[in-house]
Amino acid sequence: MKVLLLLLAFVSAYNALPAFDELSQEGEGKTWVVLCASANTWMNYGIQSDVYHSYQLVRSHGIPDDNIIVMHYDDIATDKQNPTPGVVINEPNGTNVYEGVPKHYTGKDVTPQNFLGVLKGDDKLAKLGKKVVNSGPNDRIFVYLMDHGAEGVVMFMDTFLHAEDLNNALKEMHTNKRYSQLVFYLEACESGSMFDKLLPTDINVYAVTATKPKELGWFYYCDTKLSTCLGTYFAAMWFDDWRANDPNVEKFQQEYEFFDKHQNFTMYNQSYSQHAQQYGDLSLSKLTLAQFLGGKKSPEMTRTSNINRENIQFVSKREVAVYMLQKKIEETQDITTKLGYVKELEALLNGRLYMDNVLYEYVNSIQHLMPNIATNAILHTKQELNNRHCYRRLADSFIEHCFTLNENPYVLSKLHIFVNICEQMRDSSDADIAVNRLIQYCHQNIDRNIATNIQ
Ligand SMILES: *[C@@H]1O[C@H](CO)[C@@H](O)[C@H](O)[C@H]1NC(C)=O
Ligand SMILES: *[C@@H]1O[C@H](CO)[C@@H](O)[C@H](O)[C@H]1NC(C)=O
Ligand SMILES: *[C@@H]1O[C@H](CO)[C@@H](O)[C@H](O)[C@H]1NC(C)=O
Repeated sequence: MKVLLLLLAFVSAYNALPAFDELSQEGEGKTWVVLCASANTWMNYGIQSDVYHSYQLVRSHGIPDDNIIVMHYDDIATDKQNPTPGVVINEPNGTNVYEGVPKHYTGKDVTPQNFLGVLKGDDKLAKLGKKVVNSGPNDRIFVYLMDHGAEGVVMFMDTFLHAEDLNNALKEMHTNKRYSQLVFYLEACESGSMFDKLLPTDINVYAVTATKPKELGWFYYCDTKLSTCLGTYFAAMWFDDWRANDPNVEKFQQEYEFFDKHQNFTMYNQSYSQHAQQYGDLSLSKLTLAQFLGGKKSPEMTRTSNINRENIQFVSKREVAVYMLQKKIEETQDITTKLGYVKELEALLNGRLYMDNVLYEYVNSIQHLMPNIATNAILHTKQELNNRHCYRRLADSFIEHCFTLNENPYVLSKLHIFVNICEQMRDSSDADIAVNRLIQYCHQNIDRNIATNIQ
C-alpha cells in the first residue's frame, strides 16, 4: 500500500504542474463564472458587447463552458441598425465578440430573480432544465453584472435588482457553503451603492464596482455613425489590464490600482472622472486573476490594444440618446433631416420635463409629511439612503404605476427624490401615505401618450 502511494506521489510529481483546466476540476474546487447584461436595445449596445467580450476572455483563458453562465437580452446581433448582422464588436475595428456566446438566459428570462437564482444554484431553475451555479464549499465564483443603475438598484429591463436582495443572496450563499471565495465586478451608474455599507467583510466576497455610490459611469467608443457606443470605460480599462498582464501573476489589487490610475479622462479638452471602488473582504484582492478567470496562455492574453484612443468619445451612461441627437444635428447638412432630429430631441427633452413636472406636483402634494424641508431640496439634493424599506416601495411603485422603467430610463436619474422623501418620513405610516399618494397621483394624472420613451 505504502509503495503504491509513493508510486502515485511520484507519478503525479512527475506529471508536474497540472494544466489550469485540470487544476480547476480537482480537490481545490472548480471555478464558476457568471456574466450578466440585462439591458436591451441598440442604444445599450456597449452593455451587452462588454459581457460578450468578457465571455471570450474567460473562454480563451481556459474556463470550460460547463462552468460559465451567460445572461443577455440578445437583440444586438440582429438589430436592424447593425451594419454587420450577426457580428458584435466591443472596440473600433474589433473582432466579433458574439461568436459562440451561449444563450443560457436571454430576453425576458434575464430577471433579478433568475440572476440571483443562478448564483444560489436554485433548484426550481435547475428542475426546469436551466443552468445554475452548481457549486460547493471549495469552489470559487466570479460574477460580472453589467447594466444601468441608480442609488441601491441595478436595472433589469422593467424591474430593479435591489441592493438588499443582492447582499442577502450573497450572505445566503455563504451560509449554505456555496463557495470558498467569490469576486464580484459590478458595472453600473452609482454601482458603489449596491455594496456600500451592505456587503459584509467576513463572507469571503470581494467586490469591485465601476463607480462611487453617487457617481455616473461612462460609455466608451461612442460612434455617431453607428448611433451607439461600442463599450464602456470601466470594461475597456478592465480588458486592457487583463490582456496586458499574465493572469497567473496579476493580482486583483494590482488591477484595482490600474483602475485608480485611470480614474481621469479628457474629451474635447474637458476633464471627467470615474472612480472604481472596492468592498467586502479586501484580503481577497491579493489573489491572482487566474484563480477566478483562468490562467491558460492565449493569443488574446498577449494582445495589446492597438486602437487609436486619441479621439474616443465618452458619453455618460444616461445621456446616449440626447448626445447622439445633438451630434446628428451638428453633423447633418440636409435641412429637412436636421429638422427631423431637432424635433426628435425636442420630444425627448419635453418628455423629461413631463416627468420632472409629475414629480414636482407629487412632492408638493405630500409636503405636509415633510414640514422641515423645501420642495426644491427634495427634488435637487442627494441625501444618504437609510430608510431602504420606504425607498424600495416608492421606487418600485413609481415604475409599476407611473413610468415603466425600460421604456423610460430617465427614471433612473430621478430616484434620489425618493431617497430624500424617505429620509423625511417619521414612521412607517407616513411612508404608507407617501406610497399610496404616489400610486393614486399617477393613476389620476399620468398621460399615457406622453409617459413613454423618456430617455
Ligand atoms: C484625477 O484628477 C483629480 C482632480 O483633478 C486629481 O486630484 C487626481 O490626482 C487625479 N488622479 C490621477 C490618478 O491622475
Ligand atoms: C484643446 O486645447 C488646445 C490647447 O489649449 C487647443 O489647441 C485645442 O484646439 C483644443 N481642442 C478642442 C477640441 O477644443
Ligand atoms: C480602424 O482601422 C482603420 C483602417 O485600418 C484606421 O484608419 C482607423 O484609425 C482605425 N480606427 C481606430 C479607432 O483605431
